[in-house]
Amino acid sequence: MKGIVLAGGVGSRLYPLTDVVSKQLQPVYDKPMVYYPLTVLIASGIREICLISSPAQLPNFERLLGDGRKWGIEIEYREQSKPEGIAQAFLIADSFIRDHPVALILGDNVFSGGDAFPRAVAAFESGATVFAYHVRNPERYGVVEFDSEFRPVSIVEKPRRPKSNYAVPGVYLYDNQVVEIAKKVQPSERGELEITDIHQTYLARGQLCVERLSRGFAWLDAGTSTSLHEASSYVGTIEKRQGIKIGCPEEAALVRNFLTRAQFDALIEEMPDCEYRSYLKNVAAEMERMGHGAA
Ligand code: TTP
Repeated sequence: MKGIVLAGGVGSRLYPLTDVVSKQLQPVYDKPMVYYPLTVLIASGIREICLISSPAQLPNFERLLGDGRKWGIEIEYREQSKPEGIAQAFLIADSFIRDHPVALILGDNVFSGGDAFPRAVAAFESGATVFAYHVRNPERYGVVEFDSEFRPVSIVEKPRRPKSNYAVPGVYLYDNQVVEIAKKVQPSERGELEITDIHQTYLARGQLCVERLSRGFAWLDAGTSTSLHEASSYVGTIEKRQGIKIGCPEEAALVRNFLTRAQFDALIEEMPDCEYRSYLKNVAAEMERMGHGAA
């Protein structure tokens, strides 16, 4: 499966933070926001990735991430000239996706806990798989209505009267029909190609799987200054308590064998002396203690 990180948009709710630096490059505790969705893809075994952002911000992502080789992945970049909707990602990345299945993840979604995504990617065969997460304020999101057996009945974008508390977070898996479906989506009233329209098509074809994320799972929104601060605090609290980082692509790449121990060690050597480097050194030392071998 290939992966797309959608990291454009306006970021108007984070103004003035986003006047110069895009939302997905802002810090969430100790690393740039885009590290979190990238780590989800890497941890799910996805190594061919296309990052989409605005023409103004794309060079900043390229400076930060390069071609991905340092993490044992390949990153291609594509421009979205105007933020005309999440579903536009499939039109922009058409030549990247070709005949592969694809995962799309939003560049401002922070997840923590469990192995729901790697399991879903490994088990994926056809159709589309989206997730459902219980939230207090579903009206801000795409909302799934379930029947009594928890089968999806409807998905509605930002409903005024939500039929459930289950929102669809920004990670979606699709088979190759997605490009053909996206080409037929018409702009909504707010002028965007809505991702929910794609999910409605899969639902109507009887090919939409909706997996509920468990209670222990965290899906954090980082779109407003308050929620950005809360996401940082959450990550900081868990990292300090456990001594394990959330959203660390180097570690995920090592665990997935995208990097050898020798490559991992070389990567650490290039980093300045900082907490992040010390953490990665500890990861390597702990692996050795657990008998996973040195470089
Ligand atoms: P939003 O948070 O809905 O939009 P935004 O990032 O522009 O923020 P604001 O509402 O404060 O102006 O977008 C969700 C994610 O999807 C975010 O990572 C940006 C990305 N996105 C694009 O890259 N292109 C688009 O056309 C849209 C609509 C969103």
